Amino acid sequence: MTVTELGRASGPHGEVVLRRRTVEDGSTHLELIVDGVFAMDDVDTSTERALATEALARCTGDRLRVLVGGLGLGWTAATALADPRVAAVDVAELQGALVRWAGRGLLPALGGADRRLRLHVTDVADHLAGSPGRYDAVLLDVDNGPAFLVHRTNAPLYEEAGLATAVAALRPGGVLAVWASDPVPELADRLGGLPGAADVEHLVLPVQRDGRRFDHAITVARRAGSS
Ligand SMILES: C[S@@+](CC[C@H](N)C(=O)[O-])C[C@H]1O[C@@H](n2cnc3c(N)ncnc32)[C@H](O)[C@@H]1O
Repeated sequence: MTVTELGRASGPHGEVVLRRRTVEDGSTHLELIVDGVFAMDDVDTSTERALATEALARCTGDRLRVLVGGLGLGWTAATALADPRVAAVDVAELQGALVRWAGRGLLPALGGADRRLRLHVTDVADHLAGSPGRYDAVLLDVDNGPAFLVHRTNAPLYEEAGLATAVAALRPGGVLAVWASDPVPELADRLGGLPGAADVEHLVLPVQRDGRRFDHAITVARRAGSS
């Protein structure tokens, strides 16, 4: 196996590294390391894509506005853009370098330019707090899950106040979806306890990798009220 570094940058939120692995049969995979923690690779992106499709399947209407937090390798954002009902995708990403690399075409999932896509270098918690009632779908994948944080500072996102802010960023009837590397029924319970949230579901999505089964999870909730 050979590893080629495509980008490395340090900033206020630690170091981010984008690299390409080439294995013996010649196949290649991108991987992302954030602040020393393996964030993801593109060996199987089915659940990153499902984060968008599961949320959008629960949205009604068209001209949909979507917020994705964070960018990663761009699979969730690209999947949202593939839905013709989607009019705008905002991505909140902490690492400015990753946004620059996306602009240089280093994230092939994003494909060519799409005028519906806006990449913001910001903490998604701040973006959510400044966006009450704005989105039809909010798709959160900024950690490996509430129990496996990439940044300790993300912990409040999964507490009641943080979840309430995420739900409040939705239009009535809008959908919040949160990715996690492991099942997190406690997150579903917490969302279910919020007065503004309804129809909470906890989806367990199995993925086979290196001959092993991993259960990732997506927790979905709707903002109470109709759109
Ligand atoms: C696992 S990756 C997201 C993968 C993405 N769903 C995809 O399909 O490629 C997590 C991303 O969240 C970003 N991130 C972490 N904490 C963040 C925060 N508080 N606000 C915005 N982005 C954040 C990381 O820099 C990283 O790019």
